Amino acid sequence: MEPNLLPRPDYEGRRRQLMAKMSDRGVLVLPTAGLQTRSRDVYYPFRADSDFFYLTGFAEPEAVLVLAPGYAGGEQLLFCRARDPEREVWDGRRAGLEGALETCQVDRCYDIREIDAILPNILENREVLLYPMGQAVELDARVQQWRSHAKSRARQGVRYPVELVETGYLLHEMRLIKDPTEQEIMRAAIGMSAAGHRYGMRQCRPGMHEYQLQAEIEHVFHRLGASHVAYPSIVGAGANACILHYTENRDRMQQGDLVLVDAGAELQGYAGDITRTYPVNGTFSPAQLAVYDLVLKSQLAAIEKLEIGRSVADYHEAAVEILVDGLRDLGILREGREEILERQLYRSFYMHRTGHWLGMDVHDVGAYRSPDGQWRNLEAGMVLTAEPGLYFPPDCADVPEMYRGIGIRIEDDVLVTREGPEILSAGVPKMPADIEDLMALGESVAAQYFRSS
Ligand code: GLY
Ligand code: MN
Ligand code: MN
Repeated sequence: MEPNLLPRPDYEGRRRQLMAKMSDRGVLVLPTAGLQTRSRDVYYPFRADSDFFYLTGFAEPEAVLVLAPGYAGGEQLLFCRARDPEREVWDGRRAGLEGALETCQVDRCYDIREIDAILPNILENREVLLYPMGQAVELDARVQQWRSHAKSRARQGVRYPVELVETGYLLHEMRLIKDPTEQEIMRAAIGMSAAGHRYGMRQCRPGMHEYQLQAEIEHVFHRLGASHVAYPSIVGAGANACILHYTENRDRMQQGDLVLVDAGAELQGYAGDITRTYPVNGTFSPAQLAVYDLVLKSQLAAIEKLEIGRSVADYHEAAVEILVDGLRDLGILREGREEILERQLYRSFYMHRTGHWLGMDVHDVGAYRSPDGQWRNLEAGMVLTAEPGLYFPPDCADVPEMYRGIGIRIEDDVLVTREGPEILSAGVPKMPADIEDLMALGESVAAQYFRSS
């Protein structure tokens, strides 16, 4: 799907849905992210705060959304930058108040410079403040001042926020269930991520540097219209694959190495998150294949458990059980099955969980446990990763030598549906023979890969 043709999420509807959950005594004050300095007067590329973007679709810095149910001056207010022809020559276009009003369809837009004058009035007679305390330190202090102002009028009968609630408390439950529009955008984000992985598999060869493979993959993401990478790409060859968040990507890939590639594109604020591990020379060795097949078997078993009504813990347990049996078969763990599970001895080689929620944030928001402390059950519209792995660093003395220095993870993005798990990243091969076949096609300009499936 062409990025420019993707459907527009119903930001207005989301705000209404959130306000329906807030009490009339509540008010939400939600800033977007700040610009971060990269070096001196150079900034990192701006990326809006996910909660803010989820409710507005507004991608400029210096903006604050206010939702105040029943407020006479407008229930949905956006504070943003006014137009400034001189600054716009240097820093780029601004929507301005009129532009933001039209695109965000809030009730009113104000100049962000007016926020100190307006917010104290809005906080009056509100008892619950939904605000992400600690996220924007400079704004935290001003929120306290606005609240103090309302409090100072208590003797005149004015009520003021006595309760502070994390914005995520209500919002993150909404974000956890992806509606059909979000599913379509995620299909596109994950589709272009998959195209990058496929292209990378074809370009990969011994002698290349990890950063060169990274460049091949990311170039496809951007060529297809991704706005960013969803997280720093991990391209780890040989033993580097055993470092879970390896991002240096500086080494030369050697004949006989496996390379672990964990990379995803971001599109309209939604992330892809895919990992594949493959032989740099295009052919798995018997030792590599033995470990790969085990991880693959555990991943397939885990995905089967991503069904409506099952506990979110089930798929991790399914993956662990298969890995434990396989580690015993390979002679890597020698204790009894029950003891290994009980003492979690597998954690020397499998130290992370089998996956996480995926959405606007790569490790997306939403509680994993229900309020009674139990793991929650899966529902239609949830998206999770399934990403078991095994990691045998070169110095793990107890492991047979042929497996040392092998690190393997296989990661897919899965939508929970009424028809069962839908693998959104199915466009990248993961069966060993399919990987070898694709790699055997060799380097290609491959215009066909510039489709986001
Ligand atoms: N790419 C980070 C993760 O898979 O969790
Ligand atoms: Mn990943
Ligand atoms: Mn992941």
